[in-house]
Amino acid sequence: MVSAVMLRVTQESDLPELTGGDSEFDDWGPHEPRRTITRSDTADPGGLTIADAASGEVLGSVCWPWVCWGPNPESSNPTIGIWLKRTARGHGVGPIAQRLLVDRLFTETETNRVEAHTDAANLAEQRALERAGFTREGMIRGARWRRGSWHDHYLSSVLRHEWRIQTNPSATTAR
Ligand SMILES: CC(C)(COP(=O)(O)OP(=O)(O)OC[C@H]1O[C@@H](n2cnc3c(N)ncnc32)[C@H](O)[C@@H]1OP(=O)(O)O)[C@@H](O)C(=O)NCCC(=O)NCCS
Repeated sequence: MVSAVMLRVTQESDLPELTGGDSEFDDWGPHEPRRTITRSDTADPGGLTIADAASGEVLGSVCWPWVCWGPNPESSNPTIGIWLKRTARGHGVGPIAQRLLVDRLFTETETNRVEAHTDAANLAEQRALERAGFTREGMIRGARWRRGSWHDHYLSSVLRHEWRIQTNPSATTAR
């Protein structure tokens, strides 16, 4: 049972546990260790380890590659990704970890927008994003090639002014 969740720098010893790739919605493998979140790292997908704050157990990882909506640097924003170990799923860790990442991205960068893309069939992640404060914007059709076919996905976001008014943005307690 997880009591509290934290994001921390990924250490070499975490990597064997951050396998990814075991969920039908996840095609990514382990990330290289990452130390900072800065706007200049737009080419770097980044990554932090999700851990149980009490025991230190590795639960999964988050990443935030940047996407560009216009030619100037201000028009780029992070698009977040998450993967939890199978044993960590279904306990409310996902919404909290994504909320912690949103907090960090708005605190440590000047982005106006944090977005997420979710497979249309990934109901757990759609719900987790909703609980993390994201609003669904619409469906992106036939955009993602995964396991031999094209898939629709939903685009969701949280804007800086929404993040400011959302209450208790740093709650870290799982269920
Ligand atoms: C998706 C993921 C991040 C969600 O995190 P989580 O901690 O497991 O999520 P939660 O335990 O908070 O569950 C989220 C919600 O989805 C619901 N849910 C879980 N599995 C579900 C399913 N198969 N169908 C419908 N709803 C489901 C839960 O009941 C919960 O709803 P609630 O808040 O109303 O109780 C995690 O399960 C995961 O890492 N999955 C594999 C990788 C993945 O899909 N990554 C996202 C790629 S975009």
